[in-house]
Amino acid sequence: MATERGAWGSRAGFILAAAGSAVGLGNIWGFPTQVGQGGGAAFVLVYLLCVAFICAPIMIAEFAIGRRAQKDPISAFEVIRPATAWWLTGLLGVLAGVGILSFYSVIAGWTIAYIWFTATGAVSGSQEAIGGFFSSFVSNVPLTTGLTFGVLAITAAIIMGGVRSGIERATKIMMPLLLLLLMLLAVRAATLPGAEAGLAYYVRPDMSRIWDIRVFNAALGQAFFSLSLGMGAMITYGSYLSRREGIAAAAIWIVLLDTSVALLAGLIIFPAGFSIPGFDPSTGGPGLIFTVLPRLFATLPGGHLFGAAFFILLTMAALTSTISLLEVPVAHLIDGHGWTRRTAVLAVTGTTALLAIPSALGNGAVPFFTSLPGIGMGFLDLMATIWNNFALPVGGFLIAIFVGWVWRVDEALAELRAEHAWFPAPGLWGALIRYVCPAAILLIIFFTIRAVAGI
Ligand code: TRP
Repeated sequence: MATERGAWGSRAGFILAAAGSAVGLGNIWGFPTQVGQGGGAAFVLVYLLCVAFICAPIMIAEFAIGRRAQKDPISAFEVIRPATAWWLTGLLGVLAGVGILSFYSVIAGWTIAYIWFTATGAVSGSQEAIGGFFSSFVSNVPLTTGLTFGVLAITAAIIMGGVRSGIERATKIMMPLLLLLLMLLAVRAATLPGAEAGLAYYVRPDMSRIWDIRVFNAALGQAFFSLSLGMGAMITYGSYLSRREGIAAAAIWIVLLDTSVALLAGLIIFPAGFSIPGFDPSTGGPGLIFTVLPRLFATLPGGHLFGAAFFILLTMAALTSTISLLEVPVAHLIDGHGWTRRTAVLAVTGTTALLAIPSALGNGAVPFFTSLPGIGMGFLDLMATIWNNFALPVGGFLIAIFVGWVWRVDEALAELRAEHAWFPAPGLWGALIRYVCPAAILLIIFFTIRAVAGI
């Protein structure tokens, strides 16, 4: 398959790259933050429901579209349904790629800095000292914007080399190490004084929170974000996949791995957090992991090393995700407009860097971007809300409608079961993609908008 578009070296390479896209800051930074704001175990429960019944079927649908069309997300819709408006779904995805990358690269920049801060012991001392250190760091404009641009430059350099080189190999080493280190930290956190309170918060749902529609919306958005769904990243990765490879098994592996990493991250943060006197999980905001983890590392022998290793692995996990975010708009400019890879990468990276600036400035440095007038949140939070909580689920809704009702389930199943590939429950998948996914997403988005608008 030596095509110009590039293709995966092997089946394992595809799974690793897609898993690398899924596992990232969304799992380790985003998930605990959202659990903290969504009231603990109630959020976890809703999240797991969204993953199983909405996101897993959509992941399969995205792979099927990509592999059938062998094109970027915009061209893919044009290939399967020419002369219709469906390509707009792909366009939404291309825009979401730039939007998400613009704030994601800021957080990835923070994780790079924390490699240094933990290794050198710069971040240490009392909880107030660690919190103060974080606030003054994120409002250091030259440093944080520089790191943001650094993340974008590294991503661009990797993407410039094409699909295959790098991603597969890096992920193969990083993922097992990351899992191992997370398990170790979870065990350590569980043995800290006060850990039981954190565990209870994490696994025992407060049922009164479950009926808050905003918890549903946040959980849905987080599930899409964590699994890299709703914007065609998995369409793009599926398009590099050969027809000989089974999709269902790959998708199940990726969903299980991604969800395990997120659950493990919570299993570290909450027991460790509750062992700190006066800890309130709902007030951590985007700084939650950066203020809880240094305290956890301090309780380990050789904690500096563990801390640095953790942030190195987190940075690598973030980079395998930024690669997939950048690859979607780049693939579109190559496939759809005949640009060279180099020009496409430079243009998209430059645009993203400009859009990233207000996200980097809005963490204390510039009051306007820190708390947008009339909106009550900062620019970074606003970006995360627009893209994760709304754009991705809407993209997923459109993909489900497209596959379920336009391309149609039997056509999609023919693609999914090509060459006698294993596909466990075709009837169930068809029903989820036709009815459950579109209806659930529509209801959640509708009632959230109603609640936010106060109607
Ligand atoms: N899933 C990644 C994470 O959890 C982020 C990500 C990468 C993403 N590619 C995406 C999110 C595409 C949405 C769409 O960190």
